[in-house]
Amino acid sequence: MDIPWWRDAVVYEIYVRSFADASGDGVGDLAGARERLTHLKELGVDAVWLTPFYTSPMADGGYDVADYRDVDPLFGSLADFDALVADAHALGLRVLVDIVPNHSSDEHPWFRAALRGEGRDRYIFRDRPNNWQSTFSGPAWTKLPDGMWYLHLFAPGQPDFNWRNPEVRAEFLDILRFWLDRGVDGFRIDVAMGLFKAEGLPDVKDQSFMSDSPVWGRPEVHGVYREWRELLDTYPGERMAVGEVWTDSPEDLALYVRPDELHQSFNFAWLQAPWSATAFRKVIDDTLATVPFATWVLSNHDVVRHVTRYEAADPGTGLSRAKAALLTMLALPGSAYLYQGEELGLPQVEDLPPEARQDPVFVQSKGELPGRDGCRVPIPWSPGGDSYGFSPGGVRPWLPQPGSFGALSVASQTGDPASTLEFYRRALACRRELIRTIPYELEWLPSDADTLVFARGPLVCAVNCGTGPVRLPPHESVLLATGPAEDGLLPPDHAVWLQRPVT
Ligand code: GLC
Repeated sequence: MDIPWWRDAVVYEIYVRSFADASGDGVGDLAGARERLTHLKELGVDAVWLTPFYTSPMADGGYDVADYRDVDPLFGSLADFDALVADAHALGLRVLVDIVPNHSSDEHPWFRAALRGEGRDRYIFRDRPNNWQSTFSGPAWTKLPDGMWYLHLFAPGQPDFNWRNPEVRAEFLDILRFWLDRGVDGFRIDVAMGLFKAEGLPDVKDQSFMSDSPVWGRPEVHGVYREWRELLDTYPGERMAVGEVWTDSPEDLALYVRPDELHQSFNFAWLQAPWSATAFRKVIDDTLATVPFATWVLSNHDVVRHVTRYEAADPGTGLSRAKAALLTMLALPGSAYLYQGEELGLPQVEDLPPEARQDPVFVQSKGELPGRDGCRVPIPWSPGGDSYGFSPGGVRPWLPQPGSFGALSVASQTGDPASTLEFYRRALACRRELIRTIPYELEWLPSDADTLVFARGPLVCAVNCGTGPVRLPPHESVLLATGPAEDGLLPPDHAVWLQRPVT
């Protein structure tokens, strides 16, 4: 069987605003990302996912799109995009772009027309609101001067489309074609379990992602992904789509990745799991039992960076657990999604001053929720300067970076075998070698309750989630370890890859 490229791919999320700034305005851009592609090649990833760079008033960092077929001047131009794709492809890196189909910007021409009373059926207007809440806090409805209300499951600047209108459906097929024709290898689909809302928009008791929610995961959405899949399949080169799907159960998640729908969906259960062998084992078993092609993710631009998550649960363990979770995830069947900066071991920046915070979650909750700026602080490339190499000299980035970022920069860590960055490089290089020879299937090996030990052919991965050292399983050699694996012992909060003895 031919294995599709994405099945085992390691995909690196570039949060464009915070990756690298070439233009010198303090905000990351496409030209900056292009200049830094060699970092990703050296890191050893297979693909990049670019977060939205489309024309946008930036009510939600670009997830409010005013023109789905153009680049915002803040991020560059279509020519910059084409150059980035060409360079990435020349380096052997695939490129995924973000598609935002649940909502547009309130500055999208369709919504502007709707405000004038034209074509309101492309959005969701009512003469009175229901009790739905915005994901960012506060009501999900905003009242217009003419007395009508429109629905926005996120910021008021993000009106929800009416996916029951065939015009919306046709428009998105055309947007996909536009980017496929420009050479993208696939799409990350924003809020993929959104789009359709239950007829009549009934009030809810609970707005979580349960199976029969009127807000999320309506059955009609699957028809859309079947159409998208048909379109993707007409293009050469294994174009793919990965859905941002939040659900309460692996069974609901599996619906999105049926053979004629999306290729992958993010497995958020992995990042939501606490540091526990039992919890990890359950997520792994549930995932492998329900989805044909698994994915794993520990961090992204919406959640607290995993170093800090683990550290908060047990001070002193964050970085070690983060590396062990990475090694585990890279040994599991399927594909892995990395978030920019995790290869540097960046922590969440928790002490951003309120006046610096820009996330609508912070703004809409009137400062009650910290929001997501803390995982979006611009990346440090060099040990010093005004922005640690993020922007050209003398420019301050859009979010302030902490002093600790200097020592964590790419340049500071390069060449230091003890650094997180060199550990990531070794892990990805080793995986690249192994992936050709190991089977997809995972086999659990005996272990005590606080340790996970599994094998894929000749590779054995062991991770110690307990409180004392454990004996390493039988092995020929140690391939890679997050820390010392001396005297045949694996310390707590560490993981190891072993070469299995030939039997
Ligand atoms: C997704 C994005 C997030 C954005 C939201 C609304 O969850 O990842 O950043 O705020 O959708 O588009």
